[in-house]
Amino acid sequence: MTNAVKTPEQIAKMRTAGRLAAEVLEMIGEYVVPGVTTEELDRRCHDHIVNVQQAIPACLGYRGFPKSICTSVNEVICHGIPSESKVLKKGDIINIDVTVIKDGWYGDTSKMYFVGKPVPHAERLVKVTQECLYKAIEIVRPGTTLGDIGHVIQQHAEKNYYSVVKDFCGHGIGDVFHEDPQILHYGKPGTGQVLEEGMTFTIEPMINAGKPGSRVLRDGWTAVTVDRRLSAQWEHTMAVTSDGVEILTARKEESF
Ligand code: MF3
Ligand code: CO
Ligand code: CO
Repeated sequence: MTNAVKTPEQIAKMRTAGRLAAEVLEMIGEYVVPGVTTEELDRRCHDHIVNVQQAIPACLGYRGFPKSICTSVNEVICHGIPSESKVLKKGDIINIDVTVIKDGWYGDTSKMYFVGKPVPHAERLVKVTQECLYKAIEIVRPGTTLGDIGHVIQQHAEKNYYSVVKDFCGHGIGDVFHEDPQILHYGKPGTGQVLEEGMTFTIEPMINAGKPGSRVLRDGWTAVTVDRRLSAQWEHTMAVTSDGVEILTARKEESF
């Protein structure tokens, strides 16, 4: 199955997994404060997923990734590895990316947090990046193309003098973590695969304050901006419905 179409029963399982992933992001917010290590955030998320949710942290051991969540601070675009040596400080921005497996099905979501009070340019990048995700979600329905999705994200980012990271993308998701199709965060209207009811995938735009280039550090995971300026990311897992979209990883603070 290359178009990621799921049955209502399968989507019901993804709804459960998605809710759990969202709850991890809700739970961890109060701990994202100056002085905390990303290792501690990882430990709290891991323990919540395993002990409270009786679910599996999908990142742990995935292609050798050593931790249960990704923690991407400031110039880190994605796949930051939690570490005892990474202490958050006032003014940092951090993306926490959580994927859980429940009953064999995946939910994948991330959000940005401010550590203390953000400086205005960081706050603006984070807000515009969230708007990119929300504008893409708004057009998801049967008949929309993948190019349409990429286009709205790219338009909104570039209108704000930001750039879209091209080296990473969203993905189909279901009973495997990453499946077809790739969801590019840039593109041309009317091009690419046409969405159908029952497709499940993520949209997870990574938007840079400066140039779009990325490079992966020697740890083999941490992707940073080449120019070391800030990057932000927001992610949801969703299912295409008969007339729109259901956000499977919606948090209480959101209204879709
Ligand atoms: N959650 C990430 C995504 O959105 C993937 C992380 S893979 C890991 O697709 F190994 F880095 F955890
Ligand atoms: Co993802
Ligand atoms: Co993710």
